[in-house]
Amino acid sequence: MDVLVTGGLGYIGSHTVVALAEAGYSPIIVDNLCNSQAWIHARLEQLAGQAIPFYRVDCTDRLALAQVFEQHPNVQAVVHFAALKAVGESTRHPLEYYQNNLGSLLAVLQAMQQQHVGILVFSSSATVYGEPEKLPVTETTPLQAPTSPYGATKAMAERIIADAVQANPQLRAMALRYFNPVGAHPSARIGELPQGTPNNLVPYMTQATRGVVPDLKIFGHDYATPDGTPLRDYFHVVDLACAHVLAIDYLAKAREGLPLQFVNVGAGTPVSVLQVVETFRQATGQPLPYRFAPRRAGDVEAIWCDATLAKNLLGWQPEYTLADALLHAWKWEQTLGEQEIPA
Ligand code: NAD
Ligand code: UFG
Repeated sequence: MDVLVTGGLGYIGSHTVVALAEAGYSPIIVDNLCNSQAWIHARLEQLAGQAIPFYRVDCTDRLALAQVFEQHPNVQAVVHFAALKAVGESTRHPLEYYQNNLGSLLAVLQAMQQQHVGILVFSSSATVYGEPEKLPVTETTPLQAPTSPYGATKAMAERIIADAVQANPQLRAMALRYFNPVGAHPSARIGELPQGTPNNLVPYMTQATRGVVPDLKIFGHDYATPDGTPLRDYFHVVDLACAHVLAIDYLAKAREGLPLQFVNVGAGTPVSVLQVVETFRQATGQPLPYRFAPRRAGDVEAIWCDATLAKNLLGWQPEYTLADALLHAWKWEQTLGEQEIPA
């Protein structure tokens, strides 16, 4: 089955392209390179051992997107990753976020309708749960008002897809609500490529260890958690990639008229920032110095998921540990240090 992957050169998209190819699917990538690099494409073809068509197309460009679908009439599924994802940036540039994230989703849904493509897997986020009152969160945990334009685009996107599915029984869709994917491919050939100073914990840690950015600052150690630092649900990006493959397998067999399915994807284990630091030190043997800094605006104290539905519905469960993920992230970071523009 041909699967169109928007944002397929990005962090999660690239790992998913490899997982799709390994599972026997034929991925086709659409990416405008606004947050990724073209050389990742060659690496994906090497890892997958097959040619992977790539189109440098902005998903908000309906005509260009329609042309990609027309060139690949056997596309039966879309995995839609393409989005801007920096929470802080979204508060400074909200219109760009609404335009890009919702414009691309609408264009993808319209192209799918025109070409009669019936399967959609969408990248949603734990951010839709806000600061939950009860933990762990299940898919029935009430959603909270988004605290950033980025979060709002995810909540609105879920609503848009639910409406599109309801109006078109042939469209079967799943919104995977990711918790905190971290790590890199075990081969260290692909991984996360943040532009500028990383906002997220793990890429900051690996860059600090390589000396690219100053020592790690832990944002807040006065939270009501066991060690005072926030709790999150970290899991390996390759496990997340596999969840997309299983989601397509599931939707391909699902009955028509199925409502939009929401599925949490996370390890289901709360881990504090200090525990991540300690696990990184042990897994890599690197000292990783840090200092405490004030809380970061917008951070929630604790969030982790109950991933029972992912297991029951998709047969998904994580294969890698956090230590694996952190070691792989470090191996990837080291390759970036050795060769800035890799072949
Ligand atoms: P990423 O920035 O690495 O990948 C996104 C890719 O989409 C990039 O390659 C970018 O160039 C491309 N893109 C963006 N807008 C586009 C457009 N209009 N047209 C074509 N390509 C476009 O991000 P990621 O971490 O891989 O995230 C993928 C998806 O998962 C996003 O939707 C993100 O919101 C969601 N998500 C990520 C996380 C996380 O922790 N990384 C957590 C929850 C949800
Ligand atoms: N942190 C630090 N120092 C840093 C970076 C992060 O202490 O330099 C802390 C944060 O304060 C937080 C934890 O590490 O306590 C995790 O932060 P991340 O930025 O890695 O991840 P978040 O949980 O804040 O955000 C992620 C995604 C968002 C998504 C959110 C949903 O990056 O896109 O999960 O819960 F919206």
